Amino acid sequence: MHADMQITPTKPFILRCFLISLFLSLPFLFLYLFYPQQQQQQQHHITTKDLRIRPGYSSYESYIQRQLNKTLNPKLRKIWTTRDWDRKIPVFARFFEDLKVNKKLLKNTSKALCIGARVGQEVEALRQIGVVDSVGMDLVPYPPLVMKGDFHNQPFQNDTFDFEFSNVFDHALYPQRFVAEIERTLKPEGVCVLHVALSRRADKYSANDLYSVQPLVELFKRSALVHVRSVDGFGLDTEVAFRKKGEPLRRHRL
Ligand SMILES: *[C@@H]1O[C@H](CO)[C@@H](O)[C@H](O)[C@H]1NC(C)=O
Ligand SMILES: *[C@@H]1O[C@H](CO)[C@@H](O)[C@H](O)[C@H]1NC(C)=O
Ligand SMILES: *[C@@H]1O[C@H](CO)[C@@H](O)[C@H](O)[C@H]1NC(C)=O
Repeated sequence: MHADMQITPTKPFILRCFLISLFLSLPFLFLYLFYPQQQQQQQHHITTKDLRIRPGYSSYESYIQRQLNKTLNPKLRKIWTTRDWDRKIPVFARFFEDLKVNKKLLKNTSKALCIGARVGQEVEALRQIGVVDSVGMDLVPYPPLVMKGDFHNQPFQNDTFDFEFSNVFDHALYPQRFVAEIERTLKPEGVCVLHVALSRRADKYSANDLYSVQPLVELFKRSALVHVRSVDGFGLDTEVAFRKKGEPLRRHRL
């Protein structure tokens, strides 16, 4: 009887405590359930054996800030437009001339895009060898050669270019997105040529490290591998070329 009297009044009290703590823990439960999923959706991160995304970017904004920091560095810009300008353009011109004459992956009439072109040395090289309809794209524009654009979200319509070139794959925080945007904006049968570093690590502004060509072959889902070869491209040692699958676009009949 005594025991009963003691327990009965505490029952609702315990129940109340339980309900209150349940109520208080709901937000955390919510966070636990939804946060990891949301993060995954936002980031599209892939990390395989041969492609590693570098840690340390807390957000897309901090990544863009870091890229801008290099691109806007006045000392570097000065070098890119003076000493590097004369040194690099002939080298790019030789690469492109070879792709045009020997590999037939490029024509004078190709519409070409250089991704992450900074001040546009590669664009100038393309124009010099006769590919006059060429433009570059970077976070910071450098008119008239380079227009503003983010390679994770190219400012071009589908099926725009015959040829895309880039030597900044290592700067992509979302390699899947980088490649998907190339495949989206290339015309069917359009060609993408990448210069990448396989055997040595790229610079401190890189967002990923690539250890073989295999991850690229997997990322270029809508393309066929054309060739892989060694090059000596300003610290980048490997050239990889892909051709987008599909029937070439037909002109509308008038
Ligand atoms: C940009 O770089 C400079 C040094 O080059 C550094 O002092 C500054 O903190 C950097 N800013 C950002 C946003 O990373
Ligand atoms: C392409 O352009 C270059 C440079 O203007 C020119 O020398 C070459 O003859 C052109 N090639 C063709 C096939 O028209
Ligand atoms: C452009 O291409 C993407 C994927 O490559 C596709 O999802 C989208 O529907 C296309 N947009 C148009 C307007 O055709």
